[in-house]
Amino acid sequence: MSAASLVELAAQASTCTACRLSETRTKVVFGTGTADSGLLVVGEGPGRDEDLSGEPFVGRSGQLLDKLIEEELGLTRASFYIANVVKCRPPGNRDPAPDEIAACSGYLDAQVAALDPRVVVTLGNVATRVLLGTDLGITSLRGRLHEWRGRVLIPTFHPAYALRGGGVVVAQMRADLVRAKLALATGR
Ligand code: URA
Repeated sequence: MSAASLVELAAQASTCTACRLSETRTKVVFGTGTADSGLLVVGEGPGRDEDLSGEPFVGRSGQLLDKLIEEELGLTRASFYIANVVKCRPPGNRDPAPDEIAACSGYLDAQVAALDPRVVVTLGNVATRVLLGTDLGITSLRGRLHEWRGRVLIPTFHPAYALRGGGVVVAQMRADLVRAKLALATGR
């Protein structure tokens, strides 16, 4: 699938009514960036700021994420792609429900097909569990590389958790991002 078809898909998603999240969303948050660096970052779902702006990770947690990615990987938003498991905001920032995740999964699959990233970084429990198809928690899944659809998947903490958890969590996120940098450079 090409980048052009990704644009078409984003247009299609902008009017999606496949699940109940469409009833309460302001904007669909499809995803932004390019895969020029080979990196795809996957979060959980839009929050309030993202629902209003239509862009992923624009709130406080996004600002922390941008800073860490820039400092550890030397990448800015234009050179990696960032998207969420669900493209519409779950009311009150609750976790997305399994049927909402299922209804939205075709979009993420198509994004992966179009972008063909070498490395996928998942942020937090929800994204990591959905992609790896496991019930295990982020604490036991992070700290190592996972094989995922012929790519390297690196789970790390959600930046919102790092905002609450402080220096220790941020240091662990930095270590995971260094793993991503090595994986981008070497393929493992
Ligand atoms: N949290 C997420 O998981 N995704 C966003 O886009 C914003 C906050």
